[in-house]
Amino acid sequence: MKTVATLATGSLIASLATAQVVRFDIARRETRPGQQKLGRRQAKTYEETITNDVQRGGYFATVTVGTPPQNLTLQLDTGSSDIWVPSSSSSVCAKSSPSGGSRGGDGETSGGDQGCSLGSFDPRKSKTFDDVGKGLFNISYVDGSHSKGDYFTDAFEIGGATLTNMTMGLGLDTDIPYGLVGVGYALNEAIVAGSQMASSAYKNLPVQMMDEGMISTNAYSLWLNDLDASTGQILFGGVDTAKYKGQLSVIDVLEDSQTNAFTSFIVSMTSLTANSPSGSDALSSRKLPIPVVLDSGTTLSYLPTDLAIQVWKEVGAVFDTETQMAFLPCDMENSKGTFEFGFAGPNGPKISVDMTELVLDLGEGDNVPRFKSGQYKGKTVCQFGIQNFTSEPFLLGDTFLRSAYVVYDLENNQIGMAATDFNSTKSNIVSFPSKGAKIPDGNVVQNQVSATGPDSGSATAPTYAASKGFQSVASIKPALEWAQLAVTGATTLFMLAGSGLSFL
Ligand SMILES: *[C@@H]1O[C@H](CO)[C@@H](O)[C@H](O)[C@H]1NC(C)=O
Ligand SMILES: *[C@@H]1O[C@H](CO)[C@@H](O)[C@H](O)[C@H]1NC(C)=O
Ligand SMILES: *[C@@H]1O[C@H](CO)[C@@H](O)[C@H](O)[C@H]1NC(C)=O
Ligand SMILES: *[C@@H]1O[C@H](CO)[C@@H](O)[C@H](O)[C@H]1NC(C)=O
Ligand SMILES: *[C@@H]1O[C@H](CO)[C@@H](O)[C@H](O)[C@H]1NC(C)=O
Repeated sequence: MKTVATLATGSLIASLATAQVVRFDIARRETRPGQQKLGRRQAKTYEETITNDVQRGGYFATVTVGTPPQNLTLQLDTGSSDIWVPSSSSSVCAKSSPSGGSRGGDGETSGGDQGCSLGSFDPRKSKTFDDVGKGLFNISYVDGSHSKGDYFTDAFEIGGATLTNMTMGLGLDTDIPYGLVGVGYALNEAIVAGSQMASSAYKNLPVQMMDEGMISTNAYSLWLNDLDASTGQILFGGVDTAKYKGQLSVIDVLEDSQTNAFTSFIVSMTSLTANSPSGSDALSSRKLPIPVVLDSGTTLSYLPTDLAIQVWKEVGAVFDTETQMAFLPCDMENSKGTFEFGFAGPNGPKISVDMTELVLDLGEGDNVPRFKSGQYKGKTVCQFGIQNFTSEPFLLGDTFLRSAYVVYDLENNQIGMAATDFNSTKSNIVSFPSKGAKIPDGNVVQNQVSATGPDSGSATAPTYAASKGFQSVASIKPALEWAQLAVTGATTLFMLAGSGLSFL
């Protein structure tokens, strides 16, 4: 998840190390509990398979903290930079709610998660625990959730890689019932924002791994895999060339415009095209080129409203004013349409996202909500993977990231991107040979178009040539119906079964 506050300029310290890659699998947590650890281990790599939770809408890794090790399952997040764990003493972990809370859709956090069912950390039970920053850990995410407490150092194990003295946050006061592994820039650590001093940055996970010689440079690759697949993979210190198609296109990470520092994985999104059997539309926005954050900790993707409205019209999504979210019939997952995201200009990478990756279930069995009225009456309701947001940061979350293989090179401030190879069972790992080495199998894009300065694009309504092809599967009347809804926007379209929540 993207954190709210950012801070000052500065640079990071990191030392040399030997070449190795550390890999572990990440998984969207399944509703069924338990873990399946493969424990497979290849030379110079560490691999781990984990279970997953569609409800929480994120990718999780199993880790241990402390001595003796305590098991925890944490969300993997490129949008933040601290590892933090909920303290066993925090009220959110003590609580057990019958409703079973969910952070799905990046909506408000409901605390009920059966008292931290993914694990919590009890510092009193770790003999290597060291409280190094009382009250200094304080993080707020853009979805409004937060975690506060102390910074501490202790042993941390992930994918078989053990770091003996890892700095982490201890969530003593939090409304999130599980912790996170933030793997972003160290300058985006909560302590840096809190102190407004770049010099307070500590070595976070990828830096520490490099420091201890587990990987040779501060870089990793993320393969989230299909929405319907239960596992993906993060590979520290290397690239798995068997997990994507073609070669990696390498583009620049952009500095944060306020701090002129590299703090998040902001890249320049320069085009969005809707393609379907009936045609193709280049969508437009006043904000193009758009600075977007690649954020694995965010479930959905958030684009400027003028662009999102065109996307919704293409697919026939309806915007519900009560929840402030766009929904569509679940059968749209069978739509033949795709959205192609372009980055850094005409020479940059283009990633196509199929509708199957953009239609998200809201419930199971009897809990599936249905449209109560309107053109979709009786059809099951799904959440749409592309939503709108008023202002920067615009975010490309999991609904986009699943379709891409993304290499995050924090040493060169570059991103490597290629179309993912869904469900690939092959593996061909190439490690970064040295600190600062270029992304293996990467082609640097020439004449990149950046995304700085004031809004320079213009929003011109497309002809919606692709719309018919998108929506033919749902046999509905497209485009204009949506506009009507937005204008009149009054009657309840459907009820979310079970919750009693009504939607427009
Ligand atoms: C932690 O997980 C491992 C592997 O699943 C298991 O063997 C071990 O018993 C667990 N430890 C605790 C304290 O639950
Ligand atoms: C934590 O951060 C929030 C938002 O950045 C701020 O409003 C709050 O005062 C901070 N709390 C502490 C205890 O520093
Ligand atoms: C652990 O890390 C902290 C913070 O970086 C440092 O102050 C401390 O000396 C380290 N402890 C050991 C035992 O290396
Ligand atoms: C990937 O595997 C999942 C789970 O088996 C399956 O549902 C999905 O259709 C597969 N995706 C592709 C693109 O083959
Ligand atoms: C999203 O778009 C709808 C419809 O135009 C608008 O009413 C709403 O304010 C927008 N939300 C945000 C966060 O910009």
